[in-house]
Amino acid sequence: MTQVDVLLGLQWGDEGKGKIVDVLSPKYDLIARFQGGPNAGHTLEFDGKKFVLNTIPSGIFNEKTMNLIGNGVVIDPIILKRELDNLKKAGHDPVADGKLVIARKAHLILPTHQLLDAANEARMGKNKIGSTLKGIGPTYMDKTGRNGLRVGDTTLPDFKERYAKLVEKHTEILSHYEGFEYELAEKEASFFEAIEFLKSIPHVDSEHFVNGYLKEGKAVLAEGAQGTLLDVDFGSYPFVTSSNTTTAGACTGLGIAPNKVGAVYGIFKAYCTRVGGGPFPTELDNEVGENLRALGHEFGATTGRARRCGWIDLPALKYAIMLNGVTELIMMKADVLDTFETIYACTHYEYNGETIDYMPYDIISIEPKPVLKAIEGWATDVTKITSVDQIPTKLNDYIAFLEKELEVPIKFLSVGPDRAQTLELR
Ligand code: GDP
Ligand code: IMO
Ligand code: MG
Repeated sequence: MTQVDVLLGLQWGDEGKGKIVDVLSPKYDLIARFQGGPNAGHTLEFDGKKFVLNTIPSGIFNEKTMNLIGNGVVIDPIILKRELDNLKKAGHDPVADGKLVIARKAHLILPTHQLLDAANEARMGKNKIGSTLKGIGPTYMDKTGRNGLRVGDTTLPDFKERYAKLVEKHTEILSHYEGFEYELAEKEASFFEAIEFLKSIPHVDSEHFVNGYLKEGKAVLAEGAQGTLLDVDFGSYPFVTSSNTTTAGACTGLGIAPNKVGAVYGIFKAYCTRVGGGPFPTELDNEVGENLRALGHEFGATTGRARRCGWIDLPALKYAIMLNGVTELIMMKADVLDTFETIYACTHYEYNGETIDYMPYDIISIEPKPVLKAIEGWATDVTKITSVDQIPTKLNDYIAFLEKELEVPIKFLSVGPDRAQTLELR
């Protein structure tokens, strides 16, 4: 019997999960998304082509790998159909190839969930979360509120009535948002068209499906979305997403027992970014931050929003490693720091007159001030290096420093967006 390896983000998302899942997928028989929804944007680049996936697991470009959208994911049928239509235009058809299945128990994002998201964010004004407005929060609320509609419901004879009942509840809520205007008819037409399409993708019970793979001794990788610091329980609440983005989320989001978890790959950028509102202790709201944004092309894959940039945050990373039980680290976007003479790492925070090395409970009203350590940069182009012996000494020093601080080995180093720009260090 095999175990499920998990790959997830250790920061605020956009660490490069899509790229690395694609790189690792030849080693796996099954890639399974376990939480989040189309708030995710996972970018893959190979052979001069670029793809951004929102709901579909990043294993679809590998010939032999099966892909599962797990029960913990929330699915917008319209976006999923658009994703698959676009892939088809580019010559990839995972449905026809029998490489994509979807959990019956995954919840559906309705057009009114998106409206509720928008109405809620508009009401919060400057305190808004900075949601991607994909309806994620309202859909998970209906899931835990026991009102939601699931993929499996689409095949029931009374699906339309169930839909109408939930929409009635939503429109009632929306009527309390004064001045919030919306149009629903057109979106509903696209929704029902997409629902018909959704029925053409095989529906499975993800718990039996994944455990069946394990029983047969096959290799399974769970693909996280968002990042640990956006976890609904452990992130910078309320500036978080609405799911458990941590390893525990892979258990509930796929139906696997905790003792079935194998390796946990924690992925992080050589610096740090955040998109949307909320605390970000190492944020560089200055020219250096702008420089990082320009060099790293830090604009959201889903919304196009500029990502906030800052130095690497070690207390936050240590917290994420602890929460996830990370066994191997993967460092991304080292090349973005190629031109810096000096880089910095936050080793501690100054908080309430004390020096601490953990994330305090209240980082919303009292934001921790980072204590930064200066590190000599490698000031060399690393985008073309193809073997570990070509890694500049100063970059090796940075890797060694991080491994010592974080107490977990760095297994892969990414030096560019392309699949090929990946080095296995160990
Ligand atoms: P994800 O959500 O974690 O899959 O990450 P995103 O796709 O949202 O954001 C990562 C961005 O960085 C994408 O544009 C990738 O193409 C790009 N990227 C990934 N790895 C590297 C790298 O090592 N260097 C550079 N320069 N870009 C990278
Ligand atoms: P991937 O998988 C980065 C952020 C939003 C907002 C907060 C809540 O590509 O790493 P939501 O839409 O969930 O209501 O937004 O979470 N957020 C992400 N930030 N990467 C993501 O996904 C994100 N998904 C959500 O910007 O701050
Ligand atoms: Mg992303």
